[in-house]
Amino acid sequence: METQILQADAKSIEIAAALLGSGHLVALPTETVYGLAADACNEIAVAKIFEVKQRPEFNPLIAHVIDYEAAKELVKMTPLAKELMAAFWPGALTLVLQRKENCPVAKLASAGLSTLAIRAPKGEVARAVLQKLGRPFVAPSANPSGRLSPTKANHVADMLAGKIPLILDDGPCRIGVESTIIRADGERPILLRAGGLSVEDIETVTGPLIDGTAPSSDKSGIGKELPHAPGALASHYAPQAPLRLNALNAEPDEGLLGFGNIKGDMNLSAKGDLTEAAANLFSCLHEMDQRFAKIAVARIPEVHLGRAINDRLTRAAHKD
Ligand code: TXA
Ligand code: MG
Repeated sequence: METQILQADAKSIEIAAALLGSGHLVALPTETVYGLAADACNEIAVAKIFEVKQRPEFNPLIAHVIDYEAAKELVKMTPLAKELMAAFWPGALTLVLQRKENCPVAKLASAGLSTLAIRAPKGEVARAVLQKLGRPFVAPSANPSGRLSPTKANHVADMLAGKIPLILDDGPCRIGVESTIIRADGERPILLRAGGLSVEDIETVTGPLIDGTAPSSDKSGIGKELPHAPGALASHYAPQAPLRLNALNAEPDEGLLGFGNIKGDMNLSAKGDLTEAAANLFSCLHEMDQRFAKIAVARIPEVHLGRAINDRLTRAAHKD
């Protein structure tokens, strides 16, 4: 794929929004770092992010919205979240809140969690794209897994050229570090990631933060072992039903989640496409969990997004 790098202007912003609207990825500047954006409501487009970033596991993504009004369509507001949004949005502050029942954002963006991270960026280009697109985009930093976050268009090009159709260039990012992430679905704010908005600034509004950044064995950065938020932070969605992996067929008491020509009761991707399988993973697991007491899952090849799918399935099977 040829990657175009276009100076951000009205025309290229329109192209970016059109690409996003038709399921493509676009790298674009925000005031913090360059993001790799995808239509938040398109599961396949969201799956492409993990493919391009070559993540070995599904890390949840931040949904970027234009404002408070757009945010409240997606997540359950709390007084704490309202207070923080009023003080710091648009800006370098991401809030983690409970998804609404009918939240249109892809389940894969939450990596199956009941929560969603949301942020209204301040960068004008990001805002203009959001306006044109008319719905949220998700955007992790536009770097392959394990590399530094890009703060210039050419950083993105060095790492992702050939993998995405468009990079919007608007010069260096003003802030240059990622947003600060606060969990705000309870009464007290929990710091999940220090970032572009200082803790001191946040504390002037909320009082002392609970530090949820303590190192943990969980590489996803979700801090599942936080003593202050038992249960609420349980790492990822795991089905109630026991999972059996690498199944060729179902035992009498099992439902079979198929892949490719192992058909099953539901199928992650009948054509054996790993991107499609990733896009379907969490919604299939939810549905299988409702329908069956036990779930058997067909073998997923350990390549490309198959690695992330297997990472998730293995953890779900072991009930971490
Ligand atoms: O400044 C930023 O936040 C940039 C720009 C592009 O907006 N984005 C960014 O995204 O840094 P990313 O994916 O590189 O980092 C997002 C972090 C991850 O560490 C992820 O684990 C955490 O946010 N996160 C996302 N959703 C979460 C959730 N529901 N609960 C807890 N942590 C979450
Ligand atoms: Mg990142």
